[in-house]
Amino acid sequence: MKQKVLVTRDVFDEVIAYLLNHFDVIANPEDDAWDQETIAGKLADCDGVMTSLTDRVDAELLAHAPRLKVVSNIAVGYNNIDIAACTARGVMVTNTPGVLTESTADFAWALLLATARRITEAEAWLRRGEWTRWQLKQFLGVDVHGANLGILGMGRIGQAIAKRARGFNMTIRYHNRGRLPPDTEQAIGAAYDERDALLEWADFLILSVPYSRETHHLIGREELWKMKSSAILVNIARGGVVDDAALVEALETRRILAAGLDVYENEPMLHPGLVRVSNVVLSPHIGSSTRSTRLAMAMMAARNLVAALTSGSPENLVNPESVER
Ligand code: NAP
Ligand code: GLV
Repeated sequence: MKQKVLVTRDVFDEVIAYLLNHFDVIANPEDDAWDQETIAGKLADCDGVMTSLTDRVDAELLAHAPRLKVVSNIAVGYNNIDIAACTARGVMVTNTPGVLTESTADFAWALLLATARRITEAEAWLRRGEWTRWQLKQFLGVDVHGANLGILGMGRIGQAIAKRARGFNMTIRYHNRGRLPPDTEQAIGAAYDERDALLEWADFLILSVPYSRETHHLIGREELWKMKSSAILVNIARGGVVDDAALVEALETRRILAAGLDVYENEPMLHPGLVRVSNVVLSPHIGSSTRSTRLAMAMMAARNLVAALTSGSPENLVNPESVER
């Protein structure tokens, strides 16, 4: 008898075709929004599940999935999954690192430039038919070239963002919990800094850390108030890394100049203040969303699923302890 897997969201046809070579597949081509109870029901006789970052996998869900051996997340971030609960039940968890790094770094730059040069604000104004004459002081932005770029979370994506900054002749500093080796720092042209010093120094601060208990509200009121009043914050990391209420206050009072955001607390709900203020550029969590990258992510997740259920050793295993049990 073939093993059975659940794919919770709509994915590309070629991904389902690949999975069908190995498994019976329950797919969701309509991309219906299944609630926890529906997913639990479908998981009852499944050996594996391919999840998206919006699916919550916790102990309660796992209790309904007695045959489950692997959760394959179509994302590099896996804060939607209770890793300890999976490990305790011997369930492997995999993610999709690397394949989305360059596209997400491109997108961080798109947000940074759009925010610095007020592109979406100016476009909305144009569309409203308000452009009647050219003016010297119209939509004055801030220069990106030559500015100080701070990167909080200098991992794969942070480093890809830093490489692009060199073309803009920026000075780059970063903060991680652990300092990178000197040759890596040299290759990306970035210097290490303490977190608070980075906040005070940066003209642009890009967040590219994973979400965790430790990074919850890493940027809150206290941190925002340490930043320059001319600074721009870009968050492509995860909702919850920034305290959105504090950010709205900082934007409304011009405590910082502006923000470019791809991720939010409680997304897809937005803090109402973010929609109200004009000094913010908003996008709906599309940092990795190019056709080729989203396909590569879904295929990587499918390969992880196949490897987990055939050899027991998927390439991108997040919790090796689950196998050691
Ligand atoms: P990564 O290679 O693991 O890099 C994460 C970096 O964050 C590491 O350098 C890590 O260094 C640092 N970090 C972790 N905790 C920290 C803390 N408490 N304080 C300071 N630095 C910390 O991951 P990645 O592939 O670059 O992805 C990063 C995150 O981006 C993902 O987890 C995901 O949430 C997000 N993402 C978003 C999108 C989007 O569509 N917007 C797309 C892709 C990824 P240390 O361990 O030394 O601290
Ligand atoms: C996207 O947000 C990811 O974590 O891959």
